[in-house]
Amino acid sequence: MTIRNRPLCCTVVPAMLAGLAVSLACFASASLAAEGPALVPRPVEIAIESGEFTITPATKVLYTKGDARLADAADYLASRLSLALGEQVTAAPTGATDAVPGAILMTTAGADRTLGEEGYSLVVTDNGTVIRAPKAAGVFYGGITLLQLAPPEAFRSPAMVEGKLGGRQTIPPPRPADEPNVSKTLPVEKLVVPCATIRDKPRFAWRALLIDPARHFWTIDELKQYVDYLALHKLNVLQIHFTDDSNWTVEVRRYPSLTPQKALNAADPEREKNQTYYRLARHYYTQDELKSLVAFARKRFVTIVPEIEMPSHADGLLRGCPECGCTVDLTGPDRGELCPGREATYEIVQNILDEILEVFPSQYIHIGADESMKTNWKKCDHCRKRMKDEGLKSVAELHGYFVRRMADYLKKKGRTLVGWDEILESGAKPGSIAMCYRLNRKAQEQIQKAAANGQLLVMAPFTHCYFDYWQSPEKQNEPKGVGRIITLRRAYEFEPLPDDIKRVNPDLVVGVEGALWGEAMKSFPHLLYQTYPRACALCEVAWSPEPDQRRDYAEFFRRLRTHFKRLDAAGINYREPTEIDKPKE
Ligand code: ACM
Ligand code: ZN
Repeated sequence: MTIRNRPLCCTVVPAMLAGLAVSLACFASASLAAEGPALVPRPVEIAIESGEFTITPATKVLYTKGDARLADAADYLASRLSLALGEQVTAAPTGATDAVPGAILMTTAGADRTLGEEGYSLVVTDNGTVIRAPKAAGVFYGGITLLQLAPPEAFRSPAMVEGKLGGRQTIPPPRPADEPNVSKTLPVEKLVVPCATIRDKPRFAWRALLIDPARHFWTIDELKQYVDYLALHKLNVLQIHFTDDSNWTVEVRRYPSLTPQKALNAADPEREKNQTYYRLARHYYTQDELKSLVAFARKRFVTIVPEIEMPSHADGLLRGCPECGCTVDLTGPDRGELCPGREATYEIVQNILDEILEVFPSQYIHIGADESMKTNWKKCDHCRKRMKDEGLKSVAELHGYFVRRMADYLKKKGRTLVGWDEILESGAKPGSIAMCYRLNRKAQEQIQKAAANGQLLVMAPFTHCYFDYWQSPEKQNEPKGVGRIITLRRAYEFEPLPDDIKRVNPDLVVGVEGALWGEAMKSFPHLLYQTYPRACALCEVAWSPEPDQRRDYAEFFRRLRTHFKRLDAAGINYREPTEIDKPKE
């Protein structure tokens, strides 16, 4: 790979792109001179050149004919430009594969294959813009970069400005966490973009956030907004923790007993009347709602990865299907554990997975498998028999047996199992993905051992990536939080590729994930407040090239100042950094 990490601005255009470059003059306009283009995440290579390209409602977004995914990328860009300009910008197919005067051309023709699945090149001249990438996903990300090169109005949010998603705000309790995320930004007549040449590709393929409606139910409209905001940060996976002890939130047609309550939609009057009811009530998503979410996310190149917890955190399942439990008393501290001894458990769980796979086309299906206590299993007749029959020496091995059966089942269906790092305890199936959240010595040893066997890993350590945790030591100024303190700086300085795994094979770490567990969440604006700006840090950790030494927090912080104007325009609630977040100059 020839792409190398370079400073943000004033880079020399690499020789291979030099032919495309107009005369080099950094910081074409006064405002850019002050701040630079302040892209988040930072691209691999960027050269700002003299001149400007002006986008108006008359500017066409053209895409090369014949690729439906390219049409999705173009439609998305055109729809955001329409919001910014307050008038319809048209996306249209074209036979052209090279710059079209006055237009934005999005194409895969003649792209540099080394840019991979999601990389792109973006060339803005005063006479037109070309976004070229080997795959439509890369073209989409080139479009996001173009939006960031433009003034912040380019981030005006469809959800809040136009009500297009039908989303309604929760009643906002007091600040600061619950400032309603309403965009006050008005449309502008034109968007002036500096001429630039950018070449960019992500460091990691899995760039994710996790959201937890099992603990705090989010409406489908809120999930859609959340997905939209991920896309604006070049994040490409939303893991949804649909089930836990507290709730089961997915309709399963074969087992209606799993979802005894009516589905809550955005228009539910109870929700607006009574927040307490809202938080305590059990709710679920219909399969049709979820399919609409998947389709919405797909247009933004975001994959929804469902997490259906098993064999632990499964009270939600056991309430509806008690025949999946052990023969012992299920009211004790070990409630929430499925019985891996009974064959009925596998039958029911597989039937459930069949419906999940129907709704979610994701290659990756998360089964949780964390924090299993296993003590009931020692007493259960079915579990004891299973261990004897299968020659399993411990309940830990029984856990491994359960996970491997699930991995086999998913594999048979053409999918790949993902689980929390406990799946490594008694050996995960080759090809599965372990999501590493623990940092104790035992877990580290298991991860190291698994890496030696070629195990793929996503890094989500609670020490850096749990964004429901406090984000400031000034707790008196924060909404009630949980866990440790993960400041913006800490989130930014996270390095997902540990040296010991890098020595084995750096490609084993396929990505990074930030988690927004739901227990302490009060409202959707609160969720956003916990997410941003730490997700801005995470998106850069996940996308931008590995730093030569440490990440430059001060430089990121300067860019973030500009990026906040984009978040304001999008109506994305976020925590304003305070004195403790400021870089020490
Ligand atoms: C977890 O925090 N138990 C994944
Ligand atoms: Zn059992």
